[in-house]
Amino acid sequence: MTEKIIFDTDPGIDDAMALLFAHHARDIDLVGVTTVLGNGTIDRVTQNALYICERFGINAPVYQGAAAPLLVEADEPPAFVHGDDALGNIQPAVPSHSIGDQYAAGYMVDTILQNPNEITLVAVGRLTNLAMALRINPDIAGLVKQVVVMGGALGSNRFTGNVSPVAEANIHGDPHAADIVVTATWPVTLVGLDVTMQCVMDSERLAALRQAAGEAGEFIWDITRHYENFYRDTHGVDGFAVHDSCAVAYVMAPDLFSVQQGTTRVVTEGISRGQTILVPDDKKFPPSAWDNIPQQQGCIGVDADALLDLYQTTLTG
Ligand code: BDR
Ligand code: CA
Repeated sequence: MTEKIIFDTDPGIDDAMALLFAHHARDIDLVGVTTVLGNGTIDRVTQNALYICERFGINAPVYQGAAAPLLVEADEPPAFVHGDDALGNIQPAVPSHSIGDQYAAGYMVDTILQNPNEITLVAVGRLTNLAMALRINPDIAGLVKQVVVMGGALGSNRFTGNVSPVAEANIHGDPHAADIVVTATWPVTLVGLDVTMQCVMDSERLAALRQAAGEAGEFIWDITRHYENFYRDTHGVDGFAVHDSCAVAYVMAPDLFSVQQGTTRVVTEGISRGQTILVPDDKKFPPSAWDNIPQQQGCIGVDADALLDLYQTTLTG
């Protein structure tokens, strides 16, 4: 069955890889692309989204979204991870395509209303646009098929954070938006560091992709030179985590993942800002902020080899 997705993104090197993954996936209908600040400023990431769509013939319209988080100050874009242009310093050409004439959150609301129970929101950046869409029309919570988020860290498999000991970047960057999204009455799956840090594309896999995936393979090779160095220097690994592609993979093949159910909150301030805390449904506590909110789920295990194989086969046909 074909899944209609809106891809909410901040390209971003791993975002670019995930966008190509969704574009090539036979079972995904990429309805629209929305942008949010994060790996670059909103102008930068929107230009990057347009550039990728134009270069690779992705027909989905691109809508620009939030330039700032709901309440916290915007962080400096992480150029040390994604490069000054957020695409690994390839200096992409200025795209000739332009953005859609609607704001991302409004586009999400309209598209969900026009396609009741059919749209999957795949969010791989800060959750600001999704929270704004809920504010515009809370009814959309009952009308989306599901929300799949690359974000958070539940602490399984030793992975607890990447921008602080307890916080993952997308959630930390707009913790209030994230808390709104995980406590809304729509089904959310968090595809967090617990699983994404296990999905490392090593140099052997990357070389095979470069060789077999034509222009997309060459592009991925180019944009990941900077990212690969970051991972080698910071994490001591050969290769890099394909964070955002894991959320796309969840839509395509959820059986690759094991999940835990529970009510989830995000810490919005203090030294634990951005921490995602899922209380498994079999654990009982005195009354707390985790009561009377919808159950969500978080990924805690993944068949990483199968996921990386799926990426390769999807891009190479
Ligand atoms: C997430 O943060 C961004 O840098 C990546 O694109 C990914 O979405 C990983 O923590
Ligand atoms: Ca991202």
